[in-house]
Amino acid sequence: MRPPYEDVGKLGFGQYFTDFMFVMKYNEEKGWHDKKIKKYEPFAFDPAACMLHYSQEVFEGQKAYVSEDGRVLMFRPQDNARRMNRSAVRMCMPEIPEDIYMKALKDLIMHEKQWIPQAPMTSLYVRPTMIGVEPFLGVKPSREILFYIILSPVGPYYKNGFNPIGIYVEDVMVRSMPGGVGDIKAGGNYGASLLAGLEAKKKGFEQVMWLDAKEHKYVEEVGSMNVFFVYGDKLVTPPLDGSILPGITRDAVITMASDLGYEVEERPINIDEALRDAENGKLTEMFGTGTAVVISPVGLLFYKNKEYQINEKKVGKVTQRLYDALVDIQYGRAEDRYNWVYELGKM
Ligand code: COI
Repeated sequence: MRPPYEDVGKLGFGQYFTDFMFVMKYNEEKGWHDKKIKKYEPFAFDPAACMLHYSQEVFEGQKAYVSEDGRVLMFRPQDNARRMNRSAVRMCMPEIPEDIYMKALKDLIMHEKQWIPQAPMTSLYVRPTMIGVEPFLGVKPSREILFYIILSPVGPYYKNGFNPIGIYVEDVMVRSMPGGVGDIKAGGNYGASLLAGLEAKKKGFEQVMWLDAKEHKYVEEVGSMNVFFVYGDKLVTPPLDGSILPGITRDAVITMASDLGYEVEERPINIDEALRDAENGKLTEMFGTGTAVVISPVGLLFYKNKEYQINEKKVGKVTQRLYDALVDIQYGRAEDRYNWVYELGKM
């Protein structure tokens, strides 16, 4: 079905898929084999396939953009390839040589380039996925693996676009714990987050903020994004301590913010401290980062039945400045001084 390109709001996120996908298989005898671009269609799996029972699945999120001069661009795609491999190893699945991963991205996206939307705030979302498909019920790693990439023309992740969202701070359920899989992109992490997300939605909040599993005291991350707290010219974000996702957008923001003259501190953030600072106005802004959300302003935190407004629920100037700087690089409008932009070809 043709996506509603002319209506970015209707385009939404992850609702439309292009006509073709990339697939390849793995087993020990043949390694990665049977690579092909084929028509987008349902898979047929044995009902006992490993990933259906034991969630042996990892994925990535990337985007392709068209620049004003017609170049098809991606943002730091090799970093996603590396993170995919780290995720795969943790879930007992094979790594993909980076050249194979990059070629698969390039071949598929260029094949489907006419699907890349070009209105402001739109892009082609890229979802590489790896699953264990061998049929059995014993708990062990699958020896048959399928890797595939699907593409989805998208608008902003949140319905209200680049406007501050409200976040429910979850103080009972947890997303991740030290030694677990919170620092990789395992689908199971998101499955386990659904109930808290649903309850937050029912209460009128867009997202859930997770606290650490041990003390329920330190901020980890928010549903689909890493988080930054802004104190004037200083940015504070939780450290990569093994239970949060090492976001590529998070990393880019840390680099760009330092170069733009902000101080950036990676340290544990006590939720009580953050809320107190929201109340007394020391916390001047807050935002989230991620491939899907890009940079998303946060206007409200809700914790233990109390609301805490941030920056009067308005987009702050630091958030806006970082957002503009980031998307200008991603869409090829600004000089790529970090060498983050990867050109796949021309339209
Ligand atoms: C992304 O930002 O690409 C994600 O994977 C987050 C989410 C949509 C699962």
